[in-house]
Amino acid sequence: MKLPKTVVIAMANQKGGCGKTTTTVSLAAGLAKLDYRVVLIDTDPQCNATDSFGLDREALAKDGFFTVADAYLANRPISEIVVNFPDRFGQTLFVAAGHRGLSTVPQRLESELQEALARDGASNLEADDIRQEQRGRLRKSIESLHGQVDFVLIDTPPDLGFIMTTALISADYFMIPVFPSGYDLKGLETLIGTADKVQKRLNPELQLLGVVMGNVDSNARLDADIKQMLRRKFGDDRVFETAIGRSVKHREAPVYGRTIFEHAGNQAAAQQFTDLSREVVQRVEAHLTQPAQQVAHV
Ligand SMILES: Nc1ncnc2c1ncn2[C@@H]1O[C@H](COP(=O)(O)OP(=O)(O)OP(=O)(O)O)[C@@H](O)[C@H]1O
Ligand SMILES: [Mg+2]
Repeated sequence: MKLPKTVVIAMANQKGGCGKTTTTVSLAAGLAKLDYRVVLIDTDPQCNATDSFGLDREALAKDGFFTVADAYLANRPISEIVVNFPDRFGQTLFVAAGHRGLSTVPQRLESELQEALARDGASNLEADDIRQEQRGRLRKSIESLHGQVDFVLIDTPPDLGFIMTTALISADYFMIPVFPSGYDLKGLETLIGTADKVQKRLNPELQLLGVVMGNVDSNARLDADIKQMLRRKFGDDRVFETAIGRSVKHREAPVYGRTIFEHAGNQAAAQQFTDLSREVVQRVEAHLTQPAQQVAHV
């Protein structure tokens, strides 16, 4: 380990298709290339992050591997779920694979709760305790990685439901990927409102690490204007200097089951994620010595 403690970062934006998975996967690989030990946790039932690595989910399941669904449904520690890549990333990158069954986790936990109440004749107060325990399962599962890896990156589904809440409860920081379009900016107030509630009620440690712009056209005036808007909204220090340019390489890489570094290692698309990885390390190291208090200034 290179950091003094394990740092957990959740990628958050309820807007679909705004670069969450691309950022999680590429940042995980970028940090691993800088010799940090990294675990990526795929909590999205779409499993795009898992697929991006070329992992065959069906084969993993047949071979008896656990998935992130087992963290929620069977209290399985993430350390028992992760898979490693013997010939890739210098063995410093691990992935906890997603599962389509993650989409039914909230309903299954609700039935578990109802059964417990019916069986034990428990009161409302106990129902609250059970809900609290269920929301904390991902966090508890991640505790198995403390002191073992530098970074835990959590990819999340495009909504603000149960899974997203569990990711925010588990995290020290959240990062917001955005594509520069008016539609992508609209939901940000709601997202910050949700993160603020989680911070106040469930996870006082949670902080915004930064907003990262992706799919940027460096020639478009609009994209530069949106960066300024984000800086005004969140503060200059909360928008990453590094923006990820629009490149077909980012769309190609997951199709071939490779990260951007394996697919286009010496092109700008990969370099930008190295730069972003360095910025993430700098911010985290600065916070570790001087913690800030607010989720964000909005
Ligand atoms: N910098 C980029 N340049 C070009 N295409 C990009 C870039 N970043 C991401 N994409 C593409 O945009 C699409 C959406 O990105 P991605 O899957 O990362 O978003 P997401 O927020 O994870 O989506 P979802 O909400 O469905 O999980 C993908 O096809 C991806 O390959
Ligand atoms: Mg995604």
